[in-house]
Amino acid sequence: MAESAPAPFTLADDGVDPTRVPKRTLHTGARIPAVGLGTFGSDRFSGEDIAKAVLGAASVGYRHIDCAAVYGNERLIGESFRTILESGLIRREEMWITSKLWNDKHAEADVVPACEKSLADLGLEYLDLYLVHWPFPNYHAPGCDVASRAPGAKPYIHEHYMKTWRQMEKLVDMGLVRHIGTSNMTIPKLRLVLRDARIRPACNEMELHPHFQQPGLFGFVADHGIVPIGFCPIGSPTRPDRDKTEADTVDIQDPVIVRIAERLGVHPAVVCVKWAVQRGQVPIPFSVYRNEYLSNLRCTVTEPLPDEEMQAIAGIDRNCRLIKGQVFLWKDGQTWEDLWDPTGEITPP
Ligand SMILES: NC(=O)c1ccc[n+]([C@@H]2O[C@H](COP(=O)([O-])OP(=O)(O)OC[C@H]3O[C@@H](n4cnc5c(N)ncnc54)[C@H](OP(=O)(O)O)[C@@H]3O)[C@@H](O)[C@H]2O)c1
Repeated sequence: MAESAPAPFTLADDGVDPTRVPKRTLHTGARIPAVGLGTFGSDRFSGEDIAKAVLGAASVGYRHIDCAAVYGNERLIGESFRTILESGLIRREEMWITSKLWNDKHAEADVVPACEKSLADLGLEYLDLYLVHWPFPNYHAPGCDVASRAPGAKPYIHEHYMKTWRQMEKLVDMGLVRHIGTSNMTIPKLRLVLRDARIRPACNEMELHPHFQQPGLFGFVADHGIVPIGFCPIGSPTRPDRDKTEADTVDIQDPVIVRIAERLGVHPAVVCVKWAVQRGQVPIPFSVYRNEYLSNLRCTVTEPLPDEEMQAIAGIDRNCRLIKGQVFLWKDGQTWEDLWDPTGEITPP
């Protein structure tokens, strides 16, 4: 029996006009859509589900997709990109596509091939943004437990990071990447990168949600012309169980968020996204459900939250980091806080 042909890509009638979605201007003058679709499936969603969500998200008006090699789904997402672009309904220049260099590819000889692999998997000729996913070159098998430690684990060594960064700069020179950026950084590490970079980071991807607002780092990147991209904007309720601790708080159950959601008649998750865009970061909420990803985009074109609600949300920060990075610890007796340079200096080896 003949297989039925896949449904053609179409633009949804009930979507959001992408030209109305706010944009942030980067140091090059390029403009990044102020909401992107996350594509980390945790251990709960398949690559197929996520590739389908990418198609659906583009159909309802998303033009920004946040990918990474380590999510293990770039080839499937690439098929969605091909479908979207071959439809002729969206041009490549209208899309913003990010990918990230994983921690086992920091060596000088590995950076360009790793980027080329992401490009081949995604079926693209260039990326809009390529990020160094973590500042630690320590490899862990996907899905390993947070207690696992790599035997040769290393701390942040600035000279090593800059060798990786020089290759990131080379990717820009080669035309494979339009912008480069950092992720999971701290102020002291960023200070050194800004001092030594030939091509400065355009964006810093960092954990940002109402219970983890990082005002210090947020202000630092803004002051240095770096656009903050906020991951886990909803407080990542579907993150892997291994990343949950008893001390973690739940943004979408916060009474302030719930009260605003009730006023607006939306899910509390949508309030987190709306607040994030209005505060000036670029949230990248994940969802495979159409009603969810559509409402996460639609909230960017509706009436802004009034000042008193923005202030009320500013007041519920709990400094609750969810993605702690325990697997990157490099010696016994350290706590995960050491990864985040709590003294304001880079934690010594
Ligand atoms: N750079 C990095 O190191 C880094 C680290 C982590 C994440 N990221 C990126 O950031 C993205 C987002 O982070 P995340 O996926 O961890 O967490 P998140 O976006 O904060 O939370 C995603 C979950 O929120 C729920 N949700 C989303 N929209 C909703 C809505 N409108 N109504 C109700 N529930 C909604 C969904 O759960 P239900 O299925 O229960 O509805 C979804 O699975 C990732 O996918 C990835 O691209 C980057």
